[in-house]
Amino acid sequence: MNELEHPTGDPYGAKDGKDLVSGISVFPMEPHVPRKADIDPKAARRAERQVATMFGLSSLLIIAFVVAFVKIPNTTLITIPIIGVVNANHVAIGFTFGLSILLIGIGAIHWAKKLMPDEEVVQARHALTSPDEERKEVESSFKRGAAESGFKERKIIRRSLLGALALFPVPLVVLLRDLGPLPGTRLRETIWEEGIHLVTDATYRKIKASDIPLGGLINAVPENLLEIEHEEENLNQRGKASIIVVRMDPADIVSQQGQDWDYQGVLAFSKICTHLGCPTSLYQQRTHHLLCPCHQSTFDLSDSGYVVFGPAARRMPQLAITVDAEGYLVAQSGFNQPVGPSFWERG
Ligand code: FES
Repeated sequence: MNELEHPTGDPYGAKDGKDLVSGISVFPMEPHVPRKADIDPKAARRAERQVATMFGLSSLLIIAFVVAFVKIPNTTLITIPIIGVVNANHVAIGFTFGLSILLIGIGAIHWAKKLMPDEEVVQARHALTSPDEERKEVESSFKRGAAESGFKERKIIRRSLLGALALFPVPLVVLLRDLGPLPGTRLRETIWEEGIHLVTDATYRKIKASDIPLGGLINAVPENLLEIEHEEENLNQRGKASIIVVRMDPADIVSQQGQDWDYQGVLAFSKICTHLGCPTSLYQQRTHHLLCPCHQSTFDLSDSGYVVFGPAARRMPQLAITVDAEGYLVAQSGFNQPVGPSFWERG
């Protein structure tokens, strides 16, 4: 047998330095260098012991895992240098289980590298297409099957089958109904209206312009959110109507989405990112940029909320505000455009 021929006599192997199918020259293999464990029984036994030790240690670690899980209270805290204070139970079970798996992996690799058969063979790739005779055979058997099935002659069966297959996707489409009613314009509308007070989103306190320091930001919601008692509806409306209120030097305002939509440098914008709807709150007072933490869309609040960076395709909607007789911030009207992701606008 030629040294490049596969010992199983694979017809797609190589012979006389050439691939049997393509005739292309195959590089001869490097001479085989036996491993120490192949020629020295002592080395083989040593490798065997090493592998067994790793597997044995892995078993002990699993036992330690169970003991740690049962014995170490879930409330015990320990201090680890650099990392800090951590839960001792979590550390112990994570460490024992992780190390146990690691040792099984290392043991298996060591076993394969040192002790498993080290035979080197060459098997050239054969052509991927089937031989011509096989392809013709498949083609003719397909035609024979089609003829014997009577698919061509039995028109009524053929048509009814095609009809059944055409209707097959209908149930899938009907199931879409379970997704709920179409949203209609609900996604476009918020509960902001003319005269509605801006209140803080946590304590529902009315906000005065003087409550916001220069460069500051407050998260706010419409006061009438408190009137919605149904929990789910309340959450829905909060999700759409949440805003951020910022204060900047009026001289820094380059443009707004409407004339006099600010109150002495206090501006209100939707909090919902126009990319995919994440809540935004990262405000840089020096640049007046609002950053969305999800995909880094950045909006310039001093310039009509235009996108200056990131995937958002639409500026951040601005809410026109003013103050009431007592100086509390109120909306001049509702949003004049949909808030949130741009896909709400489709259709
Ligand atoms: S959701 Fe804000 S950038 Fe994607």
